[in-house]
Amino acid sequence: MSDAHQRLRADTRQWHRGVESLPLFKKLLCAHITVEDLRNTLTVLYQFYAQIEPSLQAHFPEQSALPYQAKTAALAADLAILGASLPPLATSLAISDRAMAWGARYVLEGAVLGGNLIARQLEKNLSLTAGTLSFYRENPAIEPGWTATMAHLASELQTPEQLSHASTTACDLFALLYNLASNYPDHSAAQ
Ligand code: HEM
Repeated sequence: MSDAHQRLRADTRQWHRGVESLPLFKKLLCAHITVEDLRNTLTVLYQFYAQIEPSLQAHFPEQSALPYQAKTAALAADLAILGASLPPLATSLAISDRAMAWGARYVLEGAVLGGNLIARQLEKNLSLTAGTLSFYRENPAIEPGWTATMAHLASELQTPEQLSHASTTACDLFALLYNLASNYPDHSAAQ
């Protein structure tokens, strides 16, 4: 693992633990999860991704070496399948430079690394047919894709300043999701 990847992993470790242990995310692996629980989690994830992805995607467009595959549409499709309407969105977040874009990409792509495990549990516990959902679905390409993304990240985050900026961005985004998830549903009602 590159130094850059190691640094991001170490700096965000506590945040990952914090997010994973919030009820909204803990329930994903729980035998007693309900459709309502899943709707709530995907609603918060939709709010999070939709706020960041338009600006993030501009840094990694289709014709670039490693295009960013946005997930907002998959989350919207899942919410429709589960009978939920799309939540209101806060103002989009501005990703102003390349180091910030890598910090954001680390968090948004990393969030589906546990997706294979989560997809299997959801299918079992909610009796969903495999492949019903799009955001959490079994995908053998996740790991090779992640390895390629992390190699690219390391090649672009060269200076201590770039690394530190990427790391701060990653922690800020974990904090943003943590707040959205711990305040839900009050947060969306207040918007
Ligand atoms: C129940 C919820 C979650 C579970 C069970 C989970 C599980 C996992 C697992 C098993 C890995 C390691 C995969 C591997 O090394 O092959 C991982 C990595 C990661 N997860 Fe999560 N995750 C959850 C939620 C999230 C969320 C909501 C985010 C983002 C906001 C996130 C961000 C990340 C990141 C960035 C990594 C990469 C760590 C590294 O650098 O290796 N995870 N997660």
